[in-house]
This record gives sequence, structure tokens and C-alpha cells, in this order.
Amino acid sequence: MHYVAIVGSNSKTSLNRRLAAAIAKRYGTDDVTIDVLTLNDLPMYNVDDELTPAQVVIDFKQAVKAADGVIWVTPEYNHSIPGVLKNAIDWLSRVDKVMIGKPSMIMGTTPGFLGTIHAQLHLRDILFAMQSPVLMGNDVMVGGGHAKLDADNNITDAGTNDWLDTVMPNFKAFVAAHQ
Ligand SMILES: Cc1cc2nc3c(=O)[nH]c(=O)nc-3n(C[C@H](O)[C@H](O)[C@H](O)COP(=O)(O)O)c2cc1C
Repeated sequence: MHYVAIVGSNSKTSLNRRLAAAIAKRYGTDDVTIDVLTLNDLPMYNVDDELTPAQVVIDFKQAVKAADGVIWVTPEYNHSIPGVLKNAIDWLSRVDKVMIGKPSMIMGTTPGFLGTIHAQLHLRDILFAMQSPVLMGNDVMVGGGHAKLDADNNITDAGTNDWLDTVMPNFKAFVAAHQ
């Protein structure tokens, strides 16, 4: 089984990228491979370009298309998802529409204690429009994330690890059920 983790941040010091790296490290196994994708080089979506997109867009869409499931790791900007993530989603939603039927799960982290709850609700609605089935009841909201991740991409908070040890097998079963 193969997942991509799409990080909705273009920051070099992204907390969410560190969370995605920690997930890939802890749950990437012989059975499950997890590639962390970045959005930094994607151009702005433009309908004029969607039939002849830049190679970076083609490669990004292909990577998502080839995955059995998508883990969205989103920051929260102004109670929603960052523009870079919406831009990536707009590319994915057009022409070959690679998210239709593709299982998703949502997670995110903030330095503040709410852990991206507002952004996740918006992303869930957007994925509904994309016809991507989203794992329900397994929300991963890592509040205070800066204090729960170390420099070697480990999650140092026992409660977060315990919860992830529950939801990641649930996602695996969810993905398997959609194959
Ligand atoms: C433009 C902007 C808007 C933000 N809005 C929110 C917000 O609504 N809620 C929140 O909890 N944090 C907010 N933050 C703080 C982010 O959670 C924090 O910067 C986080 O580290 C961003 O994720 P990243 O490090 O993965 O890029 C905002 C940050 C920026 C730069």
C-alpha cells in the first residue's frame, strides 16, 4: 500500500512538514510506503493552462494518482487552509480528476492549542466536492505541535502517538476497503 502526504505549507520551517515527516518515519513500513509531497514549486492554477500544465504539475498529479490514499497535513491560516494547498487542490480537481474515489485522511498541527480544527472542517468540505471519501471520526489535531516534535522527526508526546497508533491502522483498513 502506498500513501502520499500532502503538506499544505511552503515554509522551510513548516511544523506540518515536520509532522508529515514524523508520520512517514513512524508508519512507513514494508507494507505501507509514505511519500511526503511539497507544493512549493506548483504554479498558480489557471484554467488556460490546465490541458498543458507545467511538468511539475504533471508530476504532482501523477504522484497523487499513483497513491492508494492521501494524508492531508494542513496548517491553519485565518481559520481555513492556506492558499498554497487550495491551489494544489484546484490542480488535482481538473482534467483527469485524480482525487475521485481516492481515500483521504486529514491531520494538522498548530503552535496554538486548537490544532487546525477550523481548517480541517473546510478541507473536509472541499474533499467532499472532490468526491474523495474521507476517514470519519479519526481527526488528528495536534495542538502545541512545536513542543511535541523533536529535531529527528519523532513525535515526543505519548498521547499523540497513542492516538496515531489507533488512527493509522484505521486509515489502512479504510484504504483497503476502497481498493
Ligand atoms: C497568515 C497566517 C494565518 C494564521 N492563522 C491561524 C489561525 O487561524 N489559527 C491558528 O491556529 N494558527 C494560525 N496561524 C499560525 C499557524 O498555525 C502557524 O504559523 C503554523 O506554524 C503554520 O504551519 P506551518 O508551520 O506548517 O507552515 C497563522 C499563521 C499565518 C502565517
